[in-house]
Amino acid sequence: KLEEAKAIVIDEPTDASTKIKVRQAVEHRGKRVRVFGWVHRLRQQGGMTFVILRDGTGYLQCVLSGRLSQTYDALTLTLESTVQITGVINQLPEGKTAPDGHELTADWFSVVGKAPGGDDAFLNKVNEDADPSTLADARHLVIRGENASAVLKVRAALLSSFRESYANLGLLEVTPPCMVQTQVEGGSTLFGFDYYGQEAYLTQSSQLYLETCLPSLGDVFCVQESFRAEKSHTRRHLSEYTHVEAELAFLTFQDLLEHIEELICQTIDRVLADPKIKELIDFLWGGNGKFEAPSRPFMRMDYRDAIQWLNEHGITRPGEDGVDGPHVVGDDIAEAAERKMTDMIGRPIFLINFPKEIKSFYMSRIPGDEGYTESVDLLMPNVGEIVGGSMRMNDLDELLAAYKTEGISPDPYFWYTDQRKYGTCPHGGYGLGLERLLAWLLNRYTVRECSLYPRWTGRCTP
Ligand code: 4AD
Repeated sequence: KLEEAKAIVIDEPTDASTKIKVRQAVEHRGKRVRVFGWVHRLRQQGGMTFVILRDGTGYLQCVLSGRLSQTYDALTLTLESTVQITGVINQLPEGKTAPDGHELTADWFSVVGKAPGGDDAFLNKVNEDADPSTLADARHLVIRGENASAVLKVRAALLSSFRESYANLGLLEVTPPCMVQTQVEGGSTLFGFDYYGQEAYLTQSSQLYLETCLPSLGDVFCVQESFRAEKSHTRRHLSEYTHVEAELAFLTFQDLLEHIEELICQTIDRVLADPKIKELIDFLWGGNGKFEAPSRPFMRMDYRDAIQWLNEHGITRPGEDGVDGPHVVGDDIAEAAERKMTDMIGRPIFLINFPKEIKSFYMSRIPGDEGYTESVDLLMPNVGEIVGGSMRMNDLDELLAAYKTEGISPDPYFWYTDQRKYGTCPHGGYGLGLERLLAWLLNRYTVRECSLYPRWTGRCTP
């Protein structure tokens, strides 16, 4: 049959066609078009070939019939081959379904790049049953799938929505450096490297740089990769993640909390208002109900009340002797306990006023309650902490003392210290992990699914 098929040659029709992307298909119904893309799904039935074509902008059912479906190229077509197809887009009659309710009736097609079949076929590489490490190696192919690409599309929409919210709120975007010589969140998670013979690090947070922009640019934000040499394998830790950070001047801790609430709600509402993105979000939630936008105000919970809440609800912490016990004030609440509490409460929580011992050196103390800091973690169901923020120390001597307590040399921080010398001001800010926000928004089990090419302990490829 294949030998016979080789004899069937169909010349490209000379009729004019408009080259379109799949996203433009609806507005080109009834017209003759030319589309390029990848064979996403393939079915041969009753002498016809049904191709779901994918070009990243959408999916289009294309139907090859008659002699076109008997050609060698049609009979040997494989998933993920690239093709160009010409024909007319027709709305489907009631009762038939295809993406966007229409299909391309092809009059000609040609193969641009043929993908292998057999053992090397695409589905053998990205089989969902494969073990996680095989799938991680095949991430470059996995992202072609409907789930992974939906996550990446929502991610793009979320980023542009953040930028729009920041424009509304009057913050200016800056792009701080990735290569730095100062730590922000503790020495244990620093990635170091040799910088022309000097010790340098990949940035853990752009916070200190954002603080220096306040006198020059006013309130600022950045979207920058942050790097953490995390030793622990968890659902929510990456070695590189996209960090949305902002810093604001002349505000109170209450103002800061309200700003974070406004930013999150505005950004999420805008994403949900886009019907195409809403459809992707609903798709990713599958049968597990639907995403519910958070309602304002978010719950405020003092750290000490959280400790009491955990104990009242029987959520224990692992003891050093292996025996679980009650939480005590001073504990850095562990990930599992934090998530249990957030899931039980079932709504966003601003966990505030952490003890100074478990928080970063730069956080300002609560006036009159100096053992505690003006700090906040925003906790979301299913993920836990997605934002960490605080007011910053703005007194020079207090900051110098804090370097000492932390055991870090003030020398490389001269530029940060100068902010307290040349016109200090009350200010605060926060960092939001984009992948964690996505895990919450898209009901993903791990942040690894929310990064284009995730990096975690031992994984730096593809
Ligand atoms: O709480 P963190 O460490 O705070 C800071 O870095 C501050 N300097 C930010 C600031 O105030 N400008 O990190 C902030 C957020 C966390 O809430 C979490 O969402 C995310 O960054 N994050 C991570 N996300 C993925 N993988 C990791 N290893 C992360 N570490 C922190």
